[in-house]
Amino acid sequence: MPLTRTTAVGLVGGGAMGAGIAQVALAAGHRVYLHDQRDAALQHAARAIRSGLEKWRDKGKLTAEEATAAENRLHLTSELAELAACGLVMEAIVEDLTQKQALLQALTPHLTDTCIVASNTSSLSIAALASACRHPERFLGIHFFNPAPLMPLVEVVPAVQTQPGLADEVRSLMQAWNKVPVLAKDTPGFIVNRVARPFYGEALRLLEEGIADVPTIDWAMTELGGFRMGPFALMDFIGHDVNYRVTASVFEAFFYDPRYKPSFTQKRLFEAGYWGRKAGRGFYDYATDATPPEP
Ligand code: NAI
Repeated sequence: MPLTRTTAVGLVGGGAMGAGIAQVALAAGHRVYLHDQRDAALQHAARAIRSGLEKWRDKGKLTAEEATAAENRLHLTSELAELAACGLVMEAIVEDLTQKQALLQALTPHLTDTCIVASNTSSLSIAALASACRHPERFLGIHFFNPAPLMPLVEVVPAVQTQPGLADEVRSLMQAWNKVPVLAKDTPGFIVNRVARPFYGEALRLLEEGIADVPTIDWAMTELGGFRMGPFALMDFIGHDVNYRVTASVFEAFFYDPRYKPSFTQKRLFEAGYWGRKAGRGFYDYATDATPPEP
């Protein structure tokens, strides 16, 4: 079945990315089934999606009728079985190969044989994820950037198993969603996350060597370097749970190439639960500090 506006879209994982992608798919006219294993996450996602659609309405990107209709097309579900209605299912759960493979295996019996399945992974092997599916030929990476409603770029990543033509079909769908798709090969971190690793890694090394502190490095990179966000504000925004896992996964996937070596400073933040903006604390303390800008 070709991917059209009438295709119901399933999202598994209603965190920052799942909710953001759901908002984009709803605004593009799809019915969306959003699943999370935690009810609190579903409720939080529904609030974020509603507020995002209202913002688009206020900015004139959607009419009031379109925004209400989009909101009404959202179905929250705690049952994977409800994703049977979907022609495209994307997962955006924790960045962990074992957990993602277990989810893909659990999903399989509920999906139709024609359903396209995708991962929003930032760094993991698409081939290894595809191997957990009954139809690896209908699996690929569709990697959005954070925040998904704002960031135009989407990396479309076919695995070695992906059937010819599927990546092009998904690229057309992303264009219909007003995104700018780029085809990337199935290598660790794809394009952006691979290039971004040294950006974070070198900033962490500067900090660990005592060359400058966090606000100074962020200030220099935004004011002088022309970056929209400094590396530490950006890591806090992404979340250290996500960013540390991505670094560790890219390091391992490149056979422990020292260029991608993770930092103990970030590992400790990850272990402490100081996951950045979403935890209220990371490199910055969001309760007390003047908070760095959002993208
Ligand atoms: P998050 O931590 O905000 O959300 C993950 C959600 O998945 C949580 O609500 C959690 O309850 C749910 N979940 C975990 N295991 C589950 C399971 N087995 N079944 C159902 N729900 C489950 O994470 P975030 O930031 O949304 O990232 C999700 C994925 O997107 C990761 O693969 C990450 O690498 C990728 N990504 C993250 C970006 C970022 O900047 N945060 C950017 C682009 C991709």
